[in-house]
Amino acid sequence: MHPFADSTLTLLTSGYAWAPGLRRRHGDGPAVPARLMGRPALLLHGPAAVDFFYDERHVLRHGALPGPVLDTLFGRGAVHTLDGETHRVRKELFTTRLMTPDGVDDLGRLAREHWLRTVDGLRGRRAVLFDEMAVALAAAVCEWSGVPVADGAAVRRLAEDCVAMVDGFATPGPRHWKARRARSRQEAALARAVADVRRGAVALSSGDRPTVLEAVAAHRDADGTPLDLHTAAVELLNVLRPIVAITWFTTFAAHALHHFPAVREELRADHGRYARAFAHEVRRCYPFVPFVGGLAARDLRFDGQDVSEGTLVLLDVPGHHRDPGLWPEPNRFDPRRFLGREPGPGELIAQGGGNARTGHRCPGEDITVHLLATLAATLPGLGLDLPDQDLGIPVGRIPTRPRSGVIVRVPSRSRPEE
Ligand code: HEM
Repeated sequence: MHPFADSTLTLLTSGYAWAPGLRRRHGDGPAVPARLMGRPALLLHGPAAVDFFYDERHVLRHGALPGPVLDTLFGRGAVHTLDGETHRVRKELFTTRLMTPDGVDDLGRLAREHWLRTVDGLRGRRAVLFDEMAVALAAAVCEWSGVPVADGAAVRRLAEDCVAMVDGFATPGPRHWKARRARSRQEAALARAVADVRRGAVALSSGDRPTVLEAVAAHRDADGTPLDLHTAAVELLNVLRPIVAITWFTTFAAHALHHFPAVREELRADHGRYARAFAHEVRRCYPFVPFVGGLAARDLRFDGQDVSEGTLVLLDVPGHHRDPGLWPEPNRFDPRRFLGREPGPGELIAQGGGNARTGHRCPGEDITVHLLATLAATLPGLGLDLPDQDLGIPVGRIPTRPRSGVIVRVPSRSRPEE
């Protein structure tokens, strides 16, 4: 294809295969020109690209994300779309509330409790792990964040809506419209919850720190003003939705444990260091975020190529994790490559690169790794059995997952060893 032919349609139809295909046609270089959404674009790859992309003097976010992505995945006015001081002050809301080790531990404990309770409720039955895990995560995050939910049906609705927002952001058609409806519904409910906190209609938390709901309700932006109700709801959803989305990774974890019995045995034997290494390897090996993007802040050069101001700059995520120049035997699933060490800032970029406090790197990475490790560590001991099913992971679908969602048969009784 001509490098300047618009590849939006190809991206929508070939999914995760788009970026590797484009790179292959251009000799697998670190910067490949393209055109997306009617705009000149440049697909970057490799460690130098990560440093370049996460330098705010090079790449800005305002105006970079298309409307259909904002109206489903992130929300209008979200932290993802801000730059400079405005971004840094909004980001503190996430980093100070979410990065405390106690907060992460509390959420991990709640997620484990809700998940094990869910499994107990499914004894003797078949279930789709992806769906049930999403509900357990939704229940945990509501309890943790102080977001009120009326009953179990409301928790299930929240889980389904959060899944829909992620599932429908990169596709036209019914999945996309479902995602928009899900966002509208949850934004309205969360705006009401923030309004209730502000007018003192709900009791404040009794703990030593405010809940996430209270922190969002009280937050002031760089100009000193509180968030309007819509933006407050958007940012609350930017906590709730991605925590529910950890169900994608836990489903991939179940897929990996099914395919690699030796890994399953190692995880059964070591729920600590190995579980964390396993979580990193799941994030490396399974495709979720296809790329991250922004706009060139001014006329620039990268790897000898001119990048004119306003060019859509994309950073290749799955390709980075499968690059043989960066990973020995990249196609081998081997948690031991992370055993006893944390990945460096530009090494594993499943949740972005650079610095989470000052840049756009995901503030929920500690939560993701901790919850994924904690929940995956429960799986080998639950005696779950996987009947015949389609565990294929289609590359043409963004975001992808095992087609069956991983169907499990839950034993009637827990095993004696548990
Ligand atoms: C940003 C991935 C979980 C909250 C991001 C970015 C990625 C990402 C790729 C963008 C980086 C960039 O634009 O350069 C993921 C994945 C997750 C996950 C794959 C696993 C489910 C979470 C969790 C939270 C969270 C658990 C909150 C509890 C956010 C927020 C941003 C963000 C607020 C915007 C940061 C900014 O623009 O400064 N995430 N994330 N994410 N993530 Fe996550």
